[in-house]
Amino acid sequence: DKGGWSSFMAKEITEQPEAVANTVRGRLVDGHVEIPELTALGDDLLREIDRIVIIACGTASYAGMIGTYAIEQWARVPVEVQLSHEFRYRDPVLSDRTLLISVSQSGETMDTLMAVKYAIERGVTTVSVCNTQSATIPRESDAAVYTHAGPEVAVASTKAFVAQITALYLIGLHLGRVRGTLSGDDARRAAEQLEELPGLLGEAVDTHDQIAQLAHWMADTRSVLFLGRHVGYPTALEGALKLKEIAYIHAEGFAAGELKHGPIALIDHGQPVFVLVPSPRTSPLMHSKVVSNIQEIRARGARVIAIVEKGDTSVLPFADDVIRLPLTDVLFEPLLQVIPLQWFALELSAAKGLDVDQPRNLAKSVTVE
Ligand code: BG6
Repeated sequence: DKGGWSSFMAKEITEQPEAVANTVRGRLVDGHVEIPELTALGDDLLREIDRIVIIACGTASYAGMIGTYAIEQWARVPVEVQLSHEFRYRDPVLSDRTLLISVSQSGETMDTLMAVKYAIERGVTTVSVCNTQSATIPRESDAAVYTHAGPEVAVASTKAFVAQITALYLIGLHLGRVRGTLSGDDARRAAEQLEELPGLLGEAVDTHDQIAQLAHWMADTRSVLFLGRHVGYPTALEGALKLKEIAYIHAEGFAAGELKHGPIALIDHGQPVFVLVPSPRTSPLMHSKVVSNIQEIRARGARVIAIVEKGDTSVLPFADDVIRLPLTDVLFEPLLQVIPLQWFALELSAAKGLDVDQPRNLAKSVTVE
């Protein structure tokens, strides 16, 4: 039931505040994060891990990339993401101090399941971040930290993605507390942000009408670029993936700093570029770098669509369109920034008369390797 929406994807985009609230619920107690499924693994084990490998495919891998920044910051342990289907072919260095976190909406993605099994055979502790109760991957894993986004029907993942980021952040905060690496201030601040998040996501959902107009007159666009820095980089990758998946448009996401090392050659008159601008309040240095990037591409004719924090007027002279989002800390920006990108892909797909929920050649869950 699409609940009055034109597509499941539209409905699921609007359900994101709830998806995040439900994922946090019960795991934030008196301002600190407690995940019983992790506690059951034993605090000693969590204190002793010296490396975390996140494995996932597609959108889930971008949630994983975003998770690396937060988990490293809070738990002070090196974290990397590997695509599930690449993982076991590289003879990965694993030990009993490695923690493997798989991220999968369906819990049935064969590439990810095979990677989890590979790790289990080598004595690695495995945690599954999954949206589907009792799916194969959480059943095979040592612990399951479920996202509670509710059933996701559209092939292109939206609410599962924000719930996955949320679950990874909760894991990071739990680990940081147990390992003694998370300061009281950071813990309190993160807890506040997690509580505020559903309201902020609701405001991000309200960007729909502005984005729909933008997509309407961009219906014949053949290529779109996305730029971001820090957590904005994987967010840019996700924005590009959404466009490829459902609007069949060539799209690429770049780390903003990489622009001058190659991609800037792509910028030509009228080339649309979405730029995810970090907050000038919480990340002034990154902000000024990204604003310079905007000036560089604008000078070469790019059509700049800037996604900024409300009140940031620094990009106004250089941007063709400005999408404003509520204020949050840098680590939480992707959860808000991805929403206009989801709307854009949806509206462009719809403007081209495509089936938003059932894109060609794709399946919701790929159960073959
Ligand atoms: C792809 C889907 O095949 O699998 C993507 O089209 C999804 O949307 C990816 O992100 C991973 O799926 P899952 O269920 O493992 O998160």
